[in-house]
Amino acid sequence: MLDWARRLDAGDPLGAWRERFQIPDPDLAYLDGNSLGMPPKRTLERVQTVIRDEWAGGLIRSWEDWLDLPQRVGDRLAPLIGAGAGEVTVHDSTTVNLYQLVVAAVRLRPDRSVIAIESKDFPTDRYVVDGIARARGLTVQEGFDDLGGVAVAVRSMIDYRSAEIVDLAAETARARRAGALVVWDLSHAAGLHPVGLHAAGAELAVGCTYKFLNGGPGAPGFSYVAGSLIEQLDQPIQGWFAQVDQFAMGSAFAPRPDIGRTLIGTPGIIGLAAAEEGIALTAEAGIDAIRAKSIALGRFALDWCDRLGLDTSTPRDDHRRGGHVCVHHPNARAVTARLATEHGVLADFREPDVIRLGCSPLTTRYGDVARALAAVDSMR
Ligand SMILES: Cc1ncc(COP(=O)(O)O)c(C=O)c1O
Repeated sequence: MLDWARRLDAGDPLGAWRERFQIPDPDLAYLDGNSLGMPPKRTLERVQTVIRDEWAGGLIRSWEDWLDLPQRVGDRLAPLIGAGAGEVTVHDSTTVNLYQLVVAAVRLRPDRSVIAIESKDFPTDRYVVDGIARARGLTVQEGFDDLGGVAVAVRSMIDYRSAEIVDLAAETARARRAGALVVWDLSHAAGLHPVGLHAAGAELAVGCTYKFLNGGPGAPGFSYVAGSLIEQLDQPIQGWFAQVDQFAMGSAFAPRPDIGRTLIGTPGIIGLAAAEEGIALTAEAGIDAIRAKSIALGRFALDWCDRLGLDTSTPRDDHRRGGHVCVHHPNARAVTARLATEHGVLADFREPDVIRLGCSPLTTRYGDVARALAAVDSMR
């Protein structure tokens, strides 16, 4: 397995991109880039520039350039998720952005009182939905089989545990036929998969930049609103960054007519600048090349799971599989801990029995995956 992995690494068209990252320990098999991507070297320089030249040097004058950074970074991210210019902002956390867009979506369907979500979806999404339902007297429906009467469906495009991909276009169309809006969570898709929001007719989405986009710990999330919907969007958090003439300091809130109405308060510029570098690097490498390697890494991992007899529920179909491979193991928590302490492999444990091997195409080597699987196999 290791020899085969070495051959694949030698022929990997994206192999050289690892050198663009700060990697102090080349022997570490890092299979957690889907939780926290590695730092690009250019990010270290950019953050220094922001602090030294823009903050220290420019002081308050730098706000002139910083003010529309959330929209500018959004425009850089847009092509990576199949959105247009002026439809994406990078700001706040994914959780806050999800809250905003779900409430705004509910307001767009005043005649309906149901929000649909799956109980296996990521906790923050479920908690946010439950909180909104409680505050607004709405009902939460489990699953999406029947969307009649549903105001808003909240869905992850790629499942955080199994990596299963939902058919964005088909499910968006089905929701539309039923009169429901979908708020897509692209956290495990952005920077990995050419999402194709426009092509799918998707109207609302949020996601993270600290995973496959390598934006850094706690890097801001993003909001996407289809151009046709922006002016109808009634945001619940009426912050001054969404105000039409922000510095007029007017007495009443009047939201901007553009994507800027998704903003809330003062953006964290250092994190935003770091996110921009991760996004720019991803765009340079090319989302199609990234997706192609992601598919190949997944195939390699699943093939070896089968040969070793390891249990996985990650989809075999390349079109239905995202960027990680989950291996079920009765002692998954202990095995994941031992992978780190005894084998130099960083992976994730996810309840109840999942060892999650995250494959980030710009930094993950086939050899990393092979080492992880061999180590799991040795612990049975
Ligand atoms: C699917 C999904 N949604 C949302 C989040 C969390 O977002 P936040 O950055 O607000 O913690 C995560 C984090 O891992 C996630 O996997």
